[in-house]
Amino acid sequence: MFQIAIDGHSSCGKSTLARALAHELGYIYIDSGAMYRAVTLFFLENQVDLYDHAMIQQYLSQVELSFGLADTGNRTILNGRDVEDRIREMDVAAKVSPVATIPEVRRKMVQRQRELAKNHGVVMDGRDIGTVVFPYAALKIFLTATVQRRVERRQLQLFEQGHIVDYEDILHNLYERDYIDSTRSDSPLMRSPEAIVIDNSNLTPEEQLAICALLARHRMEMH
Ligand code: CDP
Repeated sequence: MFQIAIDGHSSCGKSTLARALAHELGYIYIDSGAMYRAVTLFFLENQVDLYDHAMIQQYLSQVELSFGLADTGNRTILNGRDVEDRIREMDVAAKVSPVATIPEVRRKMVQRQRELAKNHGVVMDGRDIGTVVFPYAALKIFLTATVQRRVERRQLQLFEQGHIVDYEDILHNLYERDYIDSTRSDSPLMRSPEAIVIDNSNLTPEEQLAICALLARHRMEMH
């Protein structure tokens, strides 16, 4: 089964690319960031103390994650509840990177990610997909874009969901998450040596899809 790993910094369009590429190739798409966001929401709702490992274990064991399909795309399901829209809000964004540094959380997410991908061709996006989750992925892409483009895209996405958020607030959140994600000791965000770097600052979604679909088909032919 082919695995395609798409990693990169916050809000650089990984999900847009991964979703479209999976659709193009007939693979399943898994948004690993949504899983960390859902755990974060669950911890927020239950006021889990991120320094209390017993409490973390207790609540983590109650987390069941899956994905549903709808006309509007993948829906993240947390314990039977559709949390897809809720997990994109700023309170979750503000806490997700600290939660994603917790080794117990990462262990559980990685295990679930591999389980969900079993028996399917898969495109998965995140931070550690090419380095940790699927080190033998057939194709690894490291997506990047200028900070300005990333903030603009996230602002538009939030606006479309009915949230008006300041440029500065988004910028601050992106910098903070990138810093925490890149410097944590357990599976930090880094480019796998085999990954192909694509800067999509000046590419349309269609252009980035065309490039990646070509790369993917080329890799498949080689296997
Ligand atoms: O959409 P965006 O790029 O802003 O973020 P995301 O993919 O939804 O991921 C949210 C957060 O989850 C990231 O900032 C990381 O802290 C964490 N994450 C991670 O640690 N490992 C992954 N494989 C995916 C996300």
